[in-house]
Amino acid sequence: TGAITLDPGYKNSGSCKSDITFLDGEEGILRYRGYAIEDLADKANFLEVSYLVIFGELPTKEQLTQFETDIRRYTLVNEEMKNIIDGFPKTAHPMGVLSSLTSALTAFNPKVVNVENEKEMYEAVCKTMGKFLVIATWTYRKMMGYPLNYYDNTIGYVENFMQLMFKLPTGPYEINPVVVDALDKLFILHADHEQNCSTSTVRIVGSSHAGLFASISAGVSALWGPLHGGANQAVLEMLEEIQKDGGDADKYLAKAKDKNDPFRLMGFGHRVYKNFDPRAKIIKRAADEVLATLGVNDPILNIAKKLEESALQDEYFKSRNLYPNVDFYSGIIYRALGIPTDMFTVLFAIGRLPGWIAQWKEMRVNKEPIGRPRQVYTGHPLRSFIPMDKR
Ligand code: CMC
Repeated sequence: TGAITLDPGYKNSGSCKSDITFLDGEEGILRYRGYAIEDLADKANFLEVSYLVIFGELPTKEQLTQFETDIRRYTLVNEEMKNIIDGFPKTAHPMGVLSSLTSALTAFNPKVVNVENEKEMYEAVCKTMGKFLVIATWTYRKMMGYPLNYYDNTIGYVENFMQLMFKLPTGPYEINPVVVDALDKLFILHADHEQNCSTSTVRIVGSSHAGLFASISAGVSALWGPLHGGANQAVLEMLEEIQKDGGDADKYLAKAKDKNDPFRLMGFGHRVYKNFDPRAKIIKRAADEVLATLGVNDPILNIAKKLEESALQDEYFKSRNLYPNVDFYSGIIYRALGIPTDMFTVLFAIGRLPGWIAQWKEMRVNKEPIGRPRQVYTGHPLRSFIPMDKR
């Protein structure tokens, strides 16, 4: 088999060829299917970008309407799924519930397990886009003890997200277009990010020919961790802790630099971006706009600004190219929109869904081999078995 090259964390190893996302970490460039993230965030909506990411081209008006209609057809979730939701304690973290529910979908949708042709692939894509959104919001309803809502065919995908989350049986729910616009942009910015931890997980699980729901459920688990998608929740918790502790941002900056202290500045640094994260730039602007439009004056924001300013001038952060990443600002917007902290990573998952689907589809279409890394063994050489009475 020859010598094995060790590359822990795959810092320098490519795992696949991909046509989906171009990322230049030195220059801070991000493109989906060749289109600049700045253009897409500014001019397209989330389903349009989802179509682009999954199928490779921007949809025509007809294609987009068809896609939306086909997704809508699959937004009904099997009633028996509710028994599964009932089994969780209210205190369960929504990401754990989401991962389990996504996996449970396989039981009710066997065709999404065995995709055999293009038609079945298209159905699997639409089913996943439809059902995942609904169950993602159900994790919140469960946490709050609210009755579950159903998809409303008269309004759009992102509008549905808000209504599914927040509409109460006691009255009508008014959807704020400023909030919908901001969420649309945030979902677009999260739609794909080439071979990150959760996407690589989706591809590697799928490479054994496990189905789309099973692969995505694994992706949700990978995303949950605080070094990946869970960072958006961790950022807000960090900011709240700083606030409770008197608001001294510099104290926490010093902690982050102290190698004997495990604390890291959440929302800072990135494996690939060694320059400003282009998504962070767009989100930062969006955060300012949203907060101004909604008239939110959040003291947490001042702490975030102070932290950011100090870190950007600090030698430790400068020399290591540690800039604020997408998660640093997204939590601030989510909070302003009234989304509870425990749901932040679920929103990341909704945004990342088209990317996971596209990467899984590409892996299957390209007939990639099963993912199976090697290792360098560092354990004992052969040992003689010791009988129980001699141990
Ligand atoms: N605070 C303090 N020091 C840091 C930080 C941080 N946030 N991030 C990296 N460093 C230091 C690290 O200690 C190391 O220092 P040294 O060279 O002295 O040992 C150096 O910078 C390089 O870091 P690394 O851990 O080798 O880099 P990595 O590429 O393995 O990790 C990362 C990337 C994103 C996991 C890391 O920067 C981190 O833990 N950041 C905080 C969590 C976070 O915000 N994650 C979200 C990432 S973006 C979106 C997403 O993927 O969800």
